[in-house]
Amino acid sequence: MTQSPAAPAIDAAVEAALAASSEERLGALMEFVRIPSISALPAHAGDVADAAEWIADRLRGLDATDVEVVKTALHPIVYGRIHEAPGAPTILVYCHYDVQPVDPLDLWETAPFEPFVRDGRIVGRGTADDKGQLVMHLAAIEALRAAGKVPAVNLTFVFEGEEEYGSESLYDWIDANPDKLRADAVVISDTGYFEGNLPAITVGLRGIMYAQIDVMMCQFDLHSGMYGGTVDNPAIALARIIAAIKGADGRVRIPGFYDDVRTLSEAERAAIAALPFDEEAFRASIDVPELHGEADWSVLERKGARPTFDVNGMWSGFQGDGAKTIIPAHAHAKVSCRLVADQDPEKVFAGLRDLVAGVAPSGVEVTTTYIHGGSPSLTPTDHPATRAAARAIEAVYGRGPVYIRDGGSIPVTSAFDRQLGLPVVLIGFAQPTCNAHAPNEWLLVDNFERGTRVIVRLWDELATLGD
Ligand code: BES
Ligand code: MN
Ligand code: MN
Repeated sequence: MTQSPAAPAIDAAVEAALAASSEERLGALMEFVRIPSISALPAHAGDVADAAEWIADRLRGLDATDVEVVKTALHPIVYGRIHEAPGAPTILVYCHYDVQPVDPLDLWETAPFEPFVRDGRIVGRGTADDKGQLVMHLAAIEALRAAGKVPAVNLTFVFEGEEEYGSESLYDWIDANPDKLRADAVVISDTGYFEGNLPAITVGLRGIMYAQIDVMMCQFDLHSGMYGGTVDNPAIALARIIAAIKGADGRVRIPGFYDDVRTLSEAERAAIAALPFDEEAFRASIDVPELHGEADWSVLERKGARPTFDVNGMWSGFQGDGAKTIIPAHAHAKVSCRLVADQDPEKVFAGLRDLVAGVAPSGVEVTTTYIHGGSPSLTPTDHPATRAAARAIEAVYGRGPVYIRDGGSIPVTSAFDRQLGLPVVLIGFAQPTCNAHAPNEWLLVDNFERGTRVIVRLWDELATLGD
């Protein structure tokens, strides 16, 4: 630890407890990562349930009350409370314990669910997104307990097992359980630091609209010599449809798509431009020939404050080695838009569906189906809860956070914000290059350590919220 003894970031006894438990805490994370809780794959539903029980056991061990593994239509929600600070604010803490699928497996250095520590990093699926951050929250309480302290705020924990799959179950549960969720603010730890590992508070996240386009022509593939020139081709029809949705200039052609996009003020653009970001290093880090996007916006603006349309997957016809002379019977695409304030996923879907229907050729049948959606979120940097989080970071790191808009989505953020009317602080501890969703995902042990101290301090800083 690099804290000056003159200004300890956290209580000395809690610091001592953390110093004494570093091996144990890393061990707990490894144990948790070994549970392959992939929410998208039905074959792993039992593992997702095991991960939920793992958390519930830990919460009980921390003397949390009302611990519950809530069954839902899909994966469980883990709930628990530590309300031991009468009169103090209540903070809702959210992380998710499900993880993304691991393919392609051959690009992993070791098995994704057999984590290991090397060069100061803990490697394995979920270490950064988001199991590591969840364990940090548990560890912060554990250290307070070991030091005989209680958190200075009342904590209500909500841990989700379906974040990587659209959060549908959680939306319903939030609607049905406002009493369990009464709070003064929400803290979400599922984001990261800025380039170069600068501690950050995320003030903007993009929303998402995810859909599938199916182009159907007939029951089975046709001989392309016997039928070629006499029927349409679903793959070509799909290519035309996709080409109609987005121009080469990066503009999305869905009707009304930009109508609700909040434009950046000069001050906001200046703040983004002032962040230490190197576009060429960003390009080189992913080894693409060149960056691409709307001409009038910087890379950071394009990723944090501008909406997109992308194809996530596309398939049709023959894909094996060699050649097969057919006209495919059908073609399909998974597509999604990242959305920014104040776009609405359902409205964007309606626009997409209409555009696709309008350009679909009459020789095929085209349907567009909504898969999931989540609204974008923007938090004011000057909210007292955000300021408290900034002080916690400053206490541990000796410098305040940078404020960033990130391009990813945490669908439930806007539900906490809109359905419950609560301010949301996004304070997360992964590094931007952590390989989230990719092979060899990792979390820096130093972020795990110092981030846990930030959380300990955060409860003290939030205790004065509303005073
Ligand atoms: N932790 C991420 C969200 C995130 C990504 C925040 C990058 C900040 C920077 C989260 O687990 C995630 O991956 N969300 C999905 C949501 C989707 C499945 C609905 C996403 O953004 O693709
Ligand atoms: Mn996540
Ligand atoms: Mn994720």
